[in-house]
Amino acid sequence: MIRKLTLSALAALALGAGAAHAAGDEAHIHDVDFSFEGPFGAFDQMQLQRGLQVYTEVCSACHGLRYVPIRTLGDEGGPGLPEDQVRAYASQNFETFDPELDDTRPATPADHFPASNLENAPDLSLMAKARAGFHGPYGLGINQFFQGIGGPEYIVNILTGYTGETKEEAGTTYYGNKAFPGGWIAMAPPLSDDQVTFADGHAADVHHMAEDAAAFLMWAAEPHMMARKHAGFVAVLFLAILTVLLYLTNKRLWAPHKGKKHA
Ligand code: HEC
Repeated sequence: MIRKLTLSALAALALGAGAAHAAGDEAHIHDVDFSFEGPFGAFDQMQLQRGLQVYTEVCSACHGLRYVPIRTLGDEGGPGLPEDQVRAYASQNFETFDPELDDTRPATPADHFPASNLENAPDLSLMAKARAGFHGPYGLGINQFFQGIGGPEYIVNILTGYTGETKEEAGTTYYGNKAFPGGWIAMAPPLSDDQVTFADGHAADVHHMAEDAAAFLMWAAEPHMMARKHAGFVAVLFLAILTVLLYLTNKRLWAPHKGKKHA
């Protein structure tokens, strides 16, 4: 009897877990094919520049990037702006408080991006690595093995996942969002079609802007991703060659003792 009870309880638990997944308790995040995925993936410089533009013109009204030095916009592998453009970008878009002047002055490439303007808007410097788009199944993380952690996908899904519903709670407006845990986010839909005009003529619908912003935020969170992948590839290649050499050495060392019945 007791045994039977335990078994049925287990079955109920398993069913419950399945049902929770099926009901979309964990938001469904759709995958995005980013250029920087996979062992040879690389950031797309034009996409990073577009993402920087979306961040500057839209997101920076509320969100900061305070761990990112502005000068890195000129780094190779990143948006790759020429030095004079980085300087112009800094001074035209941001102001910094300078304790020496005891006043604000236009930002320079030596400064960081500012912190968030809006108190409850989180800083986005590390957001692409702080969130996971993919989970499970059943806490095993196998999906992450195949699809990646999914930080940038999570950002794209948040930006494109608005349902159009709103509700008021304690004086705050919440917006229905399919990707945000709990389903209601305090960020109004920040993007609308053709909100920005890209210099390279790229489509500026909400989905494309969201992808570009997410790619830019991935670069902000991990600017040296390409160098890391490259080093990893060289290491694996080195180990593969070493394996072959050791195998041949081993064969050679044992050759005199093989094929003899007794020494
Ligand atoms: C009008 C202000 C405002 C603008 C503009 C804005 N956000 Fe937000 N954002 C917020 C607030 C407020 C929150 C916190 C929402 C919450 O916790 O419910 C937030 C949260 C987020 C989150 C975090 C979700 C999480 O898991 O915690 C991400 C990612 C995000 N915003 C990205 C962006 C991007 C990218 C842009 C530009 C395309 C942008 N936001 C523009 C106000 C804004």
